[in-house]
Amino acid sequence: MDQHDVGQHDVDQQHELQTNSTSSRIDRRVFLSASGGALAAAALSSTALQGLPSMIHNSVDETIRVGLVGCGGRGTGAVINALNVEPRAKLVAMGDIFKDRLDSSLKNLLDEEHADRIDVSEEMQFSGWDSFEKVIENCDLVILATTPHFRPEQIEKAVAAGKHIFAEKPVATDAPGVARVRAAARIADQKGLTLVSGLCYRYQDAKQQTIDRVHDGSIGDIITLQCTYNTGGLWHRGRKDEWSEMEYQVRNWYYFNWLSGDHITEQSIHSIDKMMWAMKDAPPAKCSASGGRTCRTEEKWGDIYDHFNCVFEWENGTKLFHSCRQWSGADGDVSDYVHGTRGTAAIQRHRIDGEVNWKFSGSPNDMYDAEWVELFRSVKGERDRINNGEYMCNSTLASILGRTAAYTGKTITWDEMSSSELDLSPVAYEFGPAPAVEIARPGTTKFS
Ligand SMILES: NC(=O)c1ccc[n+]([C@@H]2O[C@H](COP(=O)([O-])OP(=O)(O)OC[C@H]3O[C@@H](n4cnc5c(N)ncnc54)[C@H](O)[C@@H]3O)[C@@H](O)[C@H]2O)c1
Repeated sequence: MDQHDVGQHDVDQQHELQTNSTSSRIDRRVFLSASGGALAAAALSSTALQGLPSMIHNSVDETIRVGLVGCGGRGTGAVINALNVEPRAKLVAMGDIFKDRLDSSLKNLLDEEHADRIDVSEEMQFSGWDSFEKVIENCDLVILATTPHFRPEQIEKAVAAGKHIFAEKPVATDAPGVARVRAAARIADQKGLTLVSGLCYRYQDAKQQTIDRVHDGSIGDIITLQCTYNTGGLWHRGRKDEWSEMEYQVRNWYYFNWLSGDHITEQSIHSIDKMMWAMKDAPPAKCSASGGRTCRTEEKWGDIYDHFNCVFEWENGTKLFHSCRQWSGADGDVSDYVHGTRGTAAIQRHRIDGEVNWKFSGSPNDMYDAEWVELFRSVKGERDRINNGEYMCNSTLASILGRTAAYTGKTITWDEMSSSELDLSPVAYEFGPAPAVEIARPGTTKFS
């Protein structure tokens, strides 16, 4: 089993919770059934919807019906996290483009300690391109854990149906996709829906306390930031004669930019997100970068790069030096530092060194469970409602900015990236031909 198949990246072992600027204080108990909530929401103006509490209530009982879209390693893991922390939660529907993936996920879940709350009848098992829509129809809260390319449409549909959402990172692989998610997240806010991002480090107490110290001035003014996400290689799922090119690409999604966003967006987004968090989620003004394919050069590795080096620069001159690579056999390193006028914060190591010296004591919480604790508290109206839409879009776009600067060899501004109309979607969502595999060449590949 590979990192993805076991559910989370080997190095993603920590996390945290974050309240969001768009959260709304829930001060009255209004029960909102999932589908009834959508209808009610549609009947109200967006102003009237501001602050609408996001409670779940089934007429039959207090069960929170969870649906899973994308039955791979992470989706299966997310179900376990949800059931770990909320006794009212029950998995009632599952969907995957491939039936065999759904079957193996369901089997694994039925072998888990929460098997008594895995209640997915055959009628609630969906496969194919439209499986996500059927899952969304049949749950109160949906886990969106497919290949990243499909997230914008899934988030749009879940919001339109009035469902609470857990959305894995990244939320898109191109700028038009990010714009769609941004718009949907705003509507989710108006509808009083909870939207939690799988950018899980933000939900880990140790990271929260370290970043709090960056924000409270313990290291003075930020001068530079540095982050590294160097890992080994991942899985490859082979090729079968009976598969169309589209099936081959979707099964081996990691290696196709239109599907994964490349590893800077799919994996290193965690590092970029921590740096964005340190910068209070202010977008960088521009980025220049380099990257390429040093080790993964064969055709089976699709069109993605295996290393990137980026320099992001903010309006005030603050720079982030970012690097990531996936080279099997080379040294691994996942670390990030914020250097200030009075000291340095080592975010991954949870310490501050300088005029103020501090280190997180004790064991960090399990970030993967922690994000679910807060998600359910939000859904049940026990805390400010969470809508992580803004930062999950900004961090996704920042990673796409780094990728695009490397692919083109051009310095690209945030504004140019935000308004890019380059849509990586295929001509048709069907098992047949797939997008052409073209490896970007800096200096030749155009920014659009
Ligand atoms: N937050 C974290 O630490 C973390 C860790 C690992 C993965 N992830 C993210 O979770 C997502 C899934 O990663 P994974 O490792 O589970 O991959 P995976 O390949 O194991 O699972 C993805 C599943 O989605 C299914 N799928 C693909 N397209 C689909 C579609 N259109 N409709 C329905 N199902 C579809 C695939 O068949 C597969 O079963 C990725 O976005 C990844 O970046 C996050």
